[in-house]
Amino acid sequence: MNYKDLLQKQLIKFSSKGYNRTFTPIYRYQETFPFTKIDLPNEKIKNTKINPETTIWCSNDYLNMSHNQEVINRMIEVIKEVGTGSGGTRNISGTTPYHEQLEKKLANFHERDAALIFTSAYVANQTSLATLCKKIPNIEVFSDQLNHASLIEGIKNSKASCSIFRHNDLDHLELLLSEKDLEQPKIIVFESLYSMDGTETNVYEYVKLAKKYNALTYLDEVHAVGLYGKGGRGIAFKNKISNAVDIINGTLAKGFGQIGGYIVANQTTIDFIRSFAPGFIFTTSMMPSIAAAATKSIEIVESLDDKRTDIFNKAKYFKQKLNLLDIPFIDSNSHIIPILTYSTKKAKLFSKLLLEQYNSYIQPIFYPTVPEGSARLRITITPKHSIQDIDNLIGALKRLFNSEKPEQSISAVARQNQVA
Ligand SMILES: Cc1ncc(COP(=O)(O)O)c(C=O)c1O
Repeated sequence: MNYKDLLQKQLIKFSSKGYNRTFTPIYRYQETFPFTKIDLPNEKIKNTKINPETTIWCSNDYLNMSHNQEVINRMIEVIKEVGTGSGGTRNISGTTPYHEQLEKKLANFHERDAALIFTSAYVANQTSLATLCKKIPNIEVFSDQLNHASLIEGIKNSKASCSIFRHNDLDHLELLLSEKDLEQPKIIVFESLYSMDGTETNVYEYVKLAKKYNALTYLDEVHAVGLYGKGGRGIAFKNKISNAVDIINGTLAKGFGQIGGYIVANQTTIDFIRSFAPGFIFTTSMMPSIAAAATKSIEIVESLDDKRTDIFNKAKYFKQKLNLLDIPFIDSNSHIIPILTYSTKKAKLFSKLLLEQYNSYIQPIFYPTVPEGSARLRITITPKHSIQDIDNLIGALKRLFNSEKPEQSISAVARQNQVA
């Protein structure tokens, strides 16, 4: 067996559909963000006329908390106190007061009994769901069609039976729930804000259905914490139903600008996951300095109502402009603006042209991150983007989308830049 050959063939097949991924190294300078410097990927591109002073439009550091001076100071302070690594798993010398303070802070923030932190929200989802669904005999999982890979991995890993309901379709969910015996254990797995579409979920209605059909609820609030609800407590909180959701998952990496993930729930559920989840037990705990920085970040985020309002106002302004220009996008009240190119090739090309000709960096999003045929440029506006920055980007998008013979002019530029 030639293993390398086997892997290579699959890569070639994947790339032939245009799904190969390239990474762009970016310096997200604290002082100048959203203007930054791009490390040009190779000599060939170095010879093109990309301006290194590029505006970043696709960061999930939604509130610029990774650049917050108080948070940075706290991280440095703790590194000086206890060093960098945690030195072990939570069980084997890897629990510090900083970890415990963060868990306490998260539980208070969500107004729940207890919290448990993980090295990422991906790990939190994967291992919490796998553990719960494995350990609850005969459980049936009800999973939204557009759920994140971490949720899907957790469900699959548990080998529990799973019914998939159409995206955000409560009628379909109810139909599937009603087909099962009321006494059979059930769990509904969903997200409060679908990050690739920017669509918000009515958490209240999901909880109502869960109560009716005797189901647990597992809610991913990764893209909502920090931004929605009072003090950024998320959409369940905004819907005044947070207490009734059995398990809420969040990240420390987006609205809070650090790294790591967590769940909040009642004490028994947290003790259960803490005792049985391999992704919690058998891995080195997060760096103490990150736990301390995340705690500081949450403290600050709670008071950032002005910045939250600013983001939503700017996102609304951006969408009004897109509407006027007839540029296709997925409309919502969220801070996420997905501009549809539909084809992967066009998403990649527009991204490249924006970078090369308009000093704007927007990562193209395509299959398998979104369904085939729905490729897009996903824009996120942060408090540091000005109205002038938005107008500049709108001008660039207008020129790209309004090219007289789009396909022809696009492919001409593509050929010139050897990307087709
Ligand atoms: C819906 C959702 N859940 C979970 C995650 C994982 O979050 P993290 O980056 O903290 O691992 C992501 C990542 O983007 C996500 O979009």
